[in-house]
Parts: sequence; structure tokens; C-alpha cells
Amino acid sequence: MQLNGARILLTGATGGLGQALAHQLAAAGASLLLAGRDNGRLAASIMMLTGRHSTVRADLTRPEGIAAAAGAAREFGVNLLINNAGIGCFGLYEQQAWPQIADVLAANLAAPMHLTHALLPDLKAAPNAMVVNIGSTFGSLPFPGFAAYSAAKAGLRGFSQALRRELADTQVSVIHVAPRAIDTPLNSPAVNALNRALKNQSDTAETVARQVIDAIQQDLQECHLGFPEKLFAWLNGIAPALIDRGLAGKLATIKSFAPTR
Ligand SMILES: NC(=O)c1ccc[n+]([C@@H]2O[C@H](COP(=O)([O-])OP(=O)(O)OC[C@H]3O[C@@H](n4cnc5c(N)ncnc54)[C@H](OP(=O)(O)O)[C@@H]3O)[C@@H](O)[C@H]2O)c1
Repeated sequence: MQLNGARILLTGATGGLGQALAHQLAAAGASLLLAGRDNGRLAASIMMLTGRHSTVRADLTRPEGIAAAAGAAREFGVNLLINNAGIGCFGLYEQQAWPQIADVLAANLAAPMHLTHALLPDLKAAPNAMVVNIGSTFGSLPFPGFAAYSAAKAGLRGFSQALRRELADTQVSVIHVAPRAIDTPLNSPAVNALNRALKNQSDTAETVARQVIDAIQQDLQECHLGFPEKLFAWLNGIAPALIDRGLAGKLATIKSFAPTR
């Protein structure tokens, strides 16, 4: 899709990746509707951009937040929806309280599905349109210590693929981009310490934003970012027992960093 002239609803616009995306999308000539939960952070985000943009405050885990974001998007004339908002959650599954697990599923899976559902008639009515879902390596390489997050991101990957196939006879494309770790506030100090101990590499938000924009411009439907993460995600699809064995060797380290209740 061409970005010059595109009209974009960007969720999670106040976060690390969201701000980098907003900056690069605006520089490419797109008009942005920035969504987040905090008016102060939204105002700070829009101030850093050149061009004419707008904001909408919406908690996307609530029906009224979806209605607010979808209503503003309709008025804005959106033809590109970027489902980028999300929350992290590191810890051993049995140690986590159910409300925390439910929040992870709501923010990372139900919210992008709900918003896409609300906007699909408008996207179908546009001359050309796209939905971009920001997933994670953990959606294809589910990881100990991240059971709820991995489940949500695997669900988002399945949703993206099914919807893409369902919309194959329309002008709406659906792309799914799965980054590895990114240096943003989403990762707690415990996650950053774990990544260092496991020698997991991370990317800057600017690097990932550039790759998301490449994927949009080239209509790359499935994008797994980072090597060797991309290889391990593929291997997990064909030989998960190999990945089970590899990750069993890291389990003691993962447990040593996991926060306890
Ligand atoms: N960081 C990583 O290591 C990493 C790796 C792979 C994939 N990702 C994915 O990349 C995307 C962006 O994450 P990030 O790293 O930029 O995280 P971040 O810096 O923590 O930003 C998260 C954004 O999501 C918004 N958000 C959270 N819950 C929301 C809700 N209920 N309703 C509306 N907005 C909500 C936040 O808005 P507020 O300002 O209102 O809090 C914020 O703008 C996420 O989907 C994440 O899963 C991240």
C-alpha cells in the first residue's frame, strides 16, 4: 500500500513502537489518527509530528473505547488500521492472578479483533485498505514464562491468517508482523534481565518501525523479524519437540528471573 495520502488509525500510538511508527508514517506522507488511553501522552505524541493529525482516547479493552476509536476512525476516513496496542506479562502461569491473564488476552487479542470487526465495513468501502496486526515472535515460538502473552499472540496470528483468506476477494489486505524483543517500556526490568541472561537480542523501535513500513508498502503478508528467531519460529511449526528440548535447557534461568506473587 502507498503511504503518501493514507489515512491511518494507529493504536498504541503513545508507546515505544507506536511513537516510532507515527514518526515514520507521518514522514512518508500519511495522516494519522493516534489512539491511546492517556490524553497527556497523546498530546505529547502528536506534538512530535509534522502534518495534520488527530488523536482519540480509548481503552480498547472496553466496548465504549472500541466505539470511540471506531467512530473517530470513520470520521477521519481511515483506510489503514494498525493494531499495535498491547501489554506484556512475564511470570510463571500458576503464579499469575487470573485478572492479569484475562487483561493480556483482552488487550493483545480481543481488542484488535473487536476493533477490526467494528471497522471492517468502512475498510471494505474504501478504494483500497489494509489491516496490520502487530504480533510477536512468541506467537509462533511460545515461550515459558509468557504463556498468556504467547497464547494471545498465537491467536492474533491465527486471526490474521483466517481474515486474510476470508477477505481474499476484497480490496482489504491483512498483514501480520511478528517482531522479536524491542527496546520499549513494554518489557519490565525482569524481562530485560532475562533477555540479557539468555543472550536474546532486541531491536530498537525505529528499526522495527522501518520493517513494519516495508511490510505495508510491499504488502508482505507474514513478516517474522530477526534472526535466528525467525528460524526457530519456523522450526517450532514443523518440529516442536526440538524446541521443547532447547527451551528445557533454559527453564532454570527463566524461572530464576520470573517475578513471584
Ligand atoms: N517490546 C517488545 O519487546 C515487543 C516485542 C514483540 C512485539 N511487541 C508488540 O509491539 C506492540 C507495541 O508494543 P510496545 O513495545 O511499543 O509497548 P509499549 O511501549 O508498552 O506501548 C504499548 C501501547 O499500547 C497501549 N495500550 C496498552 N493497553 C491498552 C488498552 N487497553 N487500550 C488502548 N491502548 C492500550 C499503550 O497506551 P497507554 O499510553 O494508554 O498506556 C501504549 O501506547 C505490542 O503489540 C507488543 O505486543 C513488543
